[in-house]
Amino acid sequence: MTVTEEAPRDLRAGVAELHAVREQVEPGLLAKASQAQHARGKLTVRERLDLLFDEGTFREVEQLRRHRATGFGLEDRRPHTDGVVTGWGRIHGRRVFVYAHDFRILGGSLGEAHAEKIHKVMDLAEAAGAPIISLSDGAGARIQEGVTALAGYGGIFRRNVRCSGVIPQISVILGPCAGGATYSPALTDFVFMVRGVSQMYITGPDVVRSVTGEDITHEQLGGADVHASVSGAAQFLYDDEVECLADVRHLVSLLPSNNRELPPVVATDDPADRENGTLLDLVPADPNRAYDMRAVIEEIVDDGELFEVHATWATNIICGLARLDGHVVGIVANQPASLAGVLDIHSSEKAARFVQTCDAFSIPLVTLVDVPGFLPGRDQEHGGIIRHGAKLLYAYCAATVPRVQMILRKAYGGAYIVMDSRSIGSDLSYAWPINEIAVMGAEGAANVVFRREIAAAPDPEETRAQRIKEYQRELMHPYYAAERGLLDDVIDPARTRSTLIEALAVLRAKRADIPARKHGNPPT
Ligand code: HXC
Repeated sequence: MTVTEEAPRDLRAGVAELHAVREQVEPGLLAKASQAQHARGKLTVRERLDLLFDEGTFREVEQLRRHRATGFGLEDRRPHTDGVVTGWGRIHGRRVFVYAHDFRILGGSLGEAHAEKIHKVMDLAEAAGAPIISLSDGAGARIQEGVTALAGYGGIFRRNVRCSGVIPQISVILGPCAGGATYSPALTDFVFMVRGVSQMYITGPDVVRSVTGEDITHEQLGGADVHASVSGAAQFLYDDEVECLADVRHLVSLLPSNNRELPPVVATDDPADRENGTLLDLVPADPNRAYDMRAVIEEIVDDGELFEVHATWATNIICGLARLDGHVVGIVANQPASLAGVLDIHSSEKAARFVQTCDAFSIPLVTLVDVPGFLPGRDQEHGGIIRHGAKLLYAYCAATVPRVQMILRKAYGGAYIVMDSRSIGSDLSYAWPINEIAVMGAEGAANVVFRREIAAAPDPEETRAQRIKEYQRELMHPYYAAERGLLDDVIDPARTRSTLIEALAVLRAKRADIPARKHGNPPT
């Protein structure tokens, strides 16, 4: 910073000097770095903030901060901001805090001052009870600052955990995010990535090559497609930054500012009593025939708008935010169009995380059930389906938000219980009339229960067929569950939307009684 040699003698001279200082924040040499950033297909940090916030609302703090590190030539390179822009602005009128790495400055690397700026804005977000968004585009720990840089990351992780379930935390990866730095996004509620722009990995391609001999590109190792579709580390995937930041704004509009508030309610023209007659044709009666559950959800929710989370990972379950009569709900639904909607390791993990997130932020849960069971097989058993399936069970059992279950066609065995059944605490449960709720399918059940009788019968196949029919008649319909109080009603599918809206309205004032304890010990 260049200031006049003498301290200004009056306020006007002081203001003029302030303007001169501000002009040095984006010096000419950053113009070249901005060009390089654009050449990489990336926006600059200031362009990103313009897209993120309502026009003219961003207020920067510690813009004039500079590091005081020495050695490795750092004493001669002390740019303003220290490579991270921090502050707050408004999104759809609501206050949101941000820190955004500036790759143009020291590669957006994190040193002591840079980290302290992030800590400060995270503390402010917590104090103000407002969401925090990180726009990540940096080279990781600033190598020249050694262990102080690592300690800076520790301070971020600690705050991520402290703020978890208190204020929404959103990570937007818009450049490299390497090494331990990746653990901050992993600790936050939502991760956004952009194809060709974002990369996340614990060790980069060079290390992979030297350790395993494998040749792999940055994008193949930790690009947006990999994390949104294979690892599950990112919930949202985009082709460009503009689209991505528009959806970050949309997500914020669906979340409360903190755990003591409710998500924003909007007025809707979509009638609460709109009938869903099209569902009668959309969903085939044959429980083995596939259909697209997304189309069912779009028919039910306000204006057909579903904001899907993890849309390209574990596609056999759908998780997403939508509105019913203007109120935000979290929808969890089996997807018969993908792996027959079976529950497996990834779908259990995906839904467990989503249920937990909704519960933390007072978003009621609507569970649409059409599930054949858990996926059998060695890979699933050896991969830990027991503990991963238990995550979903735990998340539902622990959730204290209003919970409404709607069983469309079938719900078998453990998967019936896990998908927010009455026995694990759903507040209201409904089913469509052609529904099969049972321990297992009729054929499997007859083969187990009547095995000896079938084997000893003069015509085993006829006996088997008779027993299957008997089992179907006695047990495989929703009235068996309704008689036993496991369903609150069997409904006409055309009344699905209105039933859900009325149920959620009744539950709006739900108060939960949680036993005193330090915290639970969920399966991991
Ligand atoms: C300081 C760094 C830096 C770093 C890059 N730069 N990495 N400065 N510390 N870690 C500087 C470069 O010297 C260069 O400065 C500028 O940033 C841009 O870097 P380039 O290499 O020219 O850019 P590019 O070719 O786009 O490559 C970007 C990159 C690469 C993929 C990020 O720079 C890279 O691999 N850097 C090392 C990443 C790394 O190993 N970080 C530590 C991860 S471990 P000039 O002056 O030329 O502009 C970690 C631990 C966290 O973060 C622990 C938490 C517990």
